[in-house]
Amino acid sequence: MLLPSLFGLDVDGLLPTGLRIVATARSGLDTEGFAEIARTALTEHIDAERLDPDRVAVFLARLRYVSLEATDSAGFAELASAVGDQADLSIFLSTAPSLFGPTIAGLRSAGLAGDGVRLALEKPLGSDLESSRAINDQVAAAFPEARTFRIDHYLGKETVQNLLALRFGNALFEPLWHTGGIDHVQITVSETVGLEGRGDYYDGMGALRDMVQNHMLQLVALVAMEPPAKFDATSVRDEKVKVLRSLRPIDAGTVEACCVIGQYGDGASGGQPVLAYTTELARVSATETFVALKLHVDNWRWQGVPFYLRTGKRLPERHSEITIQFKGVPHSIFGAKGGPLRPNRLVIRLQPHENIRLSIMAKEPGLDRDGLRLREVPLDIGLANAFADVRRRIAYERLLLDLIGGDPTLFVRRDEVEAQWTYIDGIRAGWKATGMTPKTYGAGSWGPSAAIALTERDGVSWYD
Ligand code: BG6
Repeated sequence: MLLPSLFGLDVDGLLPTGLRIVATARSGLDTEGFAEIARTALTEHIDAERLDPDRVAVFLARLRYVSLEATDSAGFAELASAVGDQADLSIFLSTAPSLFGPTIAGLRSAGLAGDGVRLALEKPLGSDLESSRAINDQVAAAFPEARTFRIDHYLGKETVQNLLALRFGNALFEPLWHTGGIDHVQITVSETVGLEGRGDYYDGMGALRDMVQNHMLQLVALVAMEPPAKFDATSVRDEKVKVLRSLRPIDAGTVEACCVIGQYGDGASGGQPVLAYTTELARVSATETFVALKLHVDNWRWQGVPFYLRTGKRLPERHSEITIQFKGVPHSIFGAKGGPLRPNRLVIRLQPHENIRLSIMAKEPGLDRDGLRLREVPLDIGLANAFADVRRRIAYERLLLDLIGGDPTLFVRRDEVEAQWTYIDGIRAGWKATGMTPKTYGAGSWGPSAAIALTERDGVSWYD
């Protein structure tokens, strides 16, 4: 994602002319070897017509590679000399949590943590509140919060930002955007992939920590937050953190009623048979690959509005979607003749094809001898058509450009992360106290049947 994103920015002339990209890892490569890796990444991830050989050459010429063992602080001097002038430096760390401490110490000792330096951090940033605090403390010892950029790549997605445009760029929705107008909210992030060779990481995390703790809680925050006074880093993040702190804790007493976890067994994906999670992993495991939650935001705006969240691997299709289910009209003037009135629904599809759809009731054409007949019809805001001439960028392009430009609005602040972990730790403690373990679901299904019961109990169906 990173090199193709940087290339995308470079081709569009968005990277400063003299910008150099110094890569470092343990592998004993040289710059030429690394450039080959970069070339392969570009070929795999960039459309052939955009791979102009001259542009590729210009991009590859920006690259340097320094081999570095993060636990050996002596090696950082070589890195510092490859970096050279540090007047405007952004560092992007994507590393095992245990290496944050030594890496930051090494950067500091080599003078790579000076005043102008920004630090971006890729997850996993810990596995619970305590370990996340420990990492944040290590980071804070060298980089103040204003120069710390925690990545949640969902915030780089176009439609996620569009949610803000929709809510705060239109007068239409906000008057109904509360417990008086909204019945419930659903957020689904379904994936068809399985472990993708990431067993060591994933098995230690599971769906709750891999997807809900970060991406899905950020989506909840964006849907539920109060209008920020400005679109800037402080205003937006102040409002998000208030939501995250208002999440009603789920604990041992409520976890079984509010949460369902599952793990995929054998099944099929895309018409092909696929193996169970534990077979893929080649060991026994109680890690959840599916989670469904009923969540509440305890404040005035959202009292009594459940948020149903679900995410999982090996589900029938890949899509991420937010559904706002509005309340029905208080009284139908059409009586029995008009047919049932369906309450309006706003569906914001983040991927694979971004789209915003509002379902409304409309009259069926005809002479209505038996009374007016109404039908639900979609009002599509087909973003793909409206902006057909604009290339859709990889989420990281936006985030990397903001990092280079020093704008932290779409990065996650420490207090947000800690509020997220507090909520997640409560759920996990609930699992432990009640002995909750994942139920098996067939790969290619929508998770354990209990996930359906979770909403049906409230008279709500998942919107597939
Ligand atoms: C990552 C998770 O953060 O997000 C992965 O670690 C998941 O397990 C991925 O597959 C999903 O991202 P996207 O952009 O494909 O929805």
